[in-house]
Amino acid sequence: MENKNNGNRKPGIITGIALKRKIKKANYISAKEARRIAKENKKIMMEYEKRYNRKNVPEEEFRTVMRDPNNVVEIDNLHTYFFTDIGVVKAVNGVSFDIPKGKTVGVVGESGCGKSVTSLAIMQLLQRPLGQIVSGEIRFDAGDFVYDIAKTPAERMQKIRGNKIAMIFQEPMTSLNPVFRIGDQLNEAIALHNPHFSKEEVKARTIRMLEMVGIANSHGVYRMFPHELSGGMRQRVMIAMALSCEPRLIIADEPTTALDVTIQAQILDLLRNLKEKINSSIMLITHDLGVIAEMADYVVVMYAGKVVEKGTAKDIFHNPAHPYTIGLMKSKPVVNRRVDRLYSIPGNVPNPVNMPNYCYFRDRCDRCIKACDGEYPPEIHLNDTHVVSCYLYSQKEAQK
Ligand SMILES: Nc1ncnc2c1ncn2[C@@H]1O[C@H](COP(=O)(O)OP(=O)(O)OP(=O)(O)O)[C@@H](O)[C@H]1O
Ligand code: SF4
Ligand SMILES: [Mg+2]
Repeated sequence: MENKNNGNRKPGIITGIALKRKIKKANYISAKEARRIAKENKKIMMEYEKRYNRKNVPEEEFRTVMRDPNNVVEIDNLHTYFFTDIGVVKAVNGVSFDIPKGKTVGVVGESGCGKSVTSLAIMQLLQRPLGQIVSGEIRFDAGDFVYDIAKTPAERMQKIRGNKIAMIFQEPMTSLNPVFRIGDQLNEAIALHNPHFSKEEVKARTIRMLEMVGIANSHGVYRMFPHELSGGMRQRVMIAMALSCEPRLIIADEPTTALDVTIQAQILDLLRNLKEKINSSIMLITHDLGVIAEMADYVVVMYAGKVVEKGTAKDIFHNPAHPYTIGLMKSKPVVNRRVDRLYSIPGNVPNPVNMPNYCYFRDRCDRCIKACDGEYPPEIHLNDTHVVSCYLYSQKEAQK
């Protein structure tokens, strides 16, 4: 009987107020409910924390073997959740993909689809105790040992992080300590992973790394503080720090988003060259399909915590299959193609606390068929490398 009190208001306003109330109702959780969720979450999180912080865990518990020895990382059905007071956020909800040795894998998808959470899970840098790897495997070939990172305890993980796997973040200023000189910060990283190095050897390695990333005045920069450098120089320092231990995997999360286009191109060139030099693999996370096209050998397209399509760069750019990937391609500006307005995919990503049990893209998809009302679409192999989760490519379903 809400409309009785609004009798003299305009119909448009009434609809607006009713809609607001409906949204508020949908997101509303009573204090009692919130307390119940918090209590349940605490119990679950404590269990995970206990397992993660165990000491002297026998190696057999986290030692595994690679499915394919040509891969450096194999992620299998990874589930990473955040146990928040409003419910469980399924940030990564069954993600599987491989990173082959010496190759670059680009991960794309719109904001909030779980790209960073996937990479933080590989590094075991999730915001704990809230964020936890709930199930799945992350097999990592460290050379002499294959780890299942999802089961590796904290004390052992310190040997891998920053040493065998390094990470380059979007904003270098937040990763560099503003009160220490560049040289000291690089020295610390190198000394930590090379305890047998003398002081002179550490400094020589630092200078060599600064030169390797294209810093001409390496001895001058060695004595500078981060604020004295430009954004591009700081990102070079971060890359030097990440590569100083010759990692087998470099995770670059939006490494050039904070830089202007010319510096962007230089940094990407640098990453590509250094990757060849130390023969490591790169997991490159970006919104920018242009960067992916230029850098990646393989592409993984994520949507709402799942991989909706993956394949070689050629598969994805020449033959995009999932309606979401096609939408992403359409929303990319192209030189020499005049458009009045860039395409944007209508609608929003579903609420991560209450994911639907059908295709997560269905409410935004303009190519729905009858089968899309069913459960989440299975993976369909279009060729040896190209995989898509969409009913349009399931012969049997598409004919219905
Ligand atoms: N600390 C956290 N607590 C609760 N939820 C989180 C937390 N960190 C991430 N999430 C949720 O996990 C989901 C995936 O986030 P993620 O940061 O991986 O997105 P992304 O794909 O990297 O986006 P972007 O392109 O904006 O960086 C989002 O829904 C986000 O709200
Ligand atoms: S499964 Fe159906 S709803 Fe989902 S992307 Fe494919 S066509 Fe669209
Ligand atoms: Mg991110």
